[in-house]
Amino acid sequence: MRIVSISNNKGGVGKTTSTVNIAAGLELLNKKVLVIDIDHQAQTTYHFGFNPNNIKLSVYDVLKGDVGFEDVIIKRNNIDLVPANPDLKGLEFLPIPAKEFLLKDAFERAEGYDFILIDCPPSLGVLTLNALTFCREIFVPLQVQFLPFHGMYNLFEGVQMVKKRLNKYLDITGIIGTMFNSKKSISNEVIAETKKRLPGKLFDTLIRDNVSLQEAPSWGKTIFEYKPDSSGADDYMNLTKEILERTK
Ligand SMILES: Nc1ncnc2c1ncn2[C@@H]1O[C@H](COP(=O)(O)OP(=O)(O)OP(=O)(O)O)[C@@H](O)[C@H]1O
Ligand SMILES: [Mg+2]
Repeated sequence: MRIVSISNNKGGVGKTTSTVNIAAGLELLNKKVLVIDIDHQAQTTYHFGFNPNNIKLSVYDVLKGDVGFEDVIIKRNNIDLVPANPDLKGLEFLPIPAKEFLLKDAFERAEGYDFILIDCPPSLGVLTLNALTFCREIFVPLQVQFLPFHGMYNLFEGVQMVKKRLNKYLDITGIIGTMFNSKKSISNEVIAETKKRLPGKLFDTLIRDNVSLQEAPSWGKTIFEYKPDSSGADDYMNLTKEILERTK
């Protein structure tokens, strides 16, 4: 079983889009996937077609220890979703010691899955720390439209810190280039720079800028359900296959 956080402390880079569509790609390749939404924005929950405001039992109740994770799972075809709702914000303020271990403690006994994918919020706060303490691998979506290395180094420092203090098994498996536009020189510059600074880390598959990927969440559909013939569907399927070949 591979346990993966999809994480980048920068916002709007394609974490949720990647989580949902990699999960869906894996599902199409007959893998059993558990998706955990650990972002209080609950966009993964929404993208899968569920209104977070109507979610009564969420990952928050699991983390608090009130219920087991099986009690909150929403089954969506062959994907099991542990949904989020805005309550999750409250975790920061709960007076619980060793709060970084709540997710690991709650999900450690999960079995029967090929992958657990965890969609993180855009910060290195307590929710992301929970994800990084539990997982073994990180996929880092990188929007290849800015020269974003300052933020990336914060993330790498954070990962090193977690590795040292909370989870020695943690590693970045790969960087996912998102919103790629070959006509824009900035896209090509960012790709070249990433390859130079972080050799071997960028997945070969780039996720192109694609309006269908932007539209799919409002319909509560994955890209394969919404527009199976789009470049977004092609790219996420190719990425999924590459993920199956690449381990950290
Ligand atoms: N390849 C793409 N082409 C076009 N639009 C995209 C692509 N990937 C993501 N988007 C859009 O960009 C926006 C941000 O993407 P997404 O929500 O996946 O990022 P995020 O990193 O999860 O954001 P947050 O940090 O707020 O959680 C969304 O509107 C999404 O639909
Ligand atoms: Mg998100």
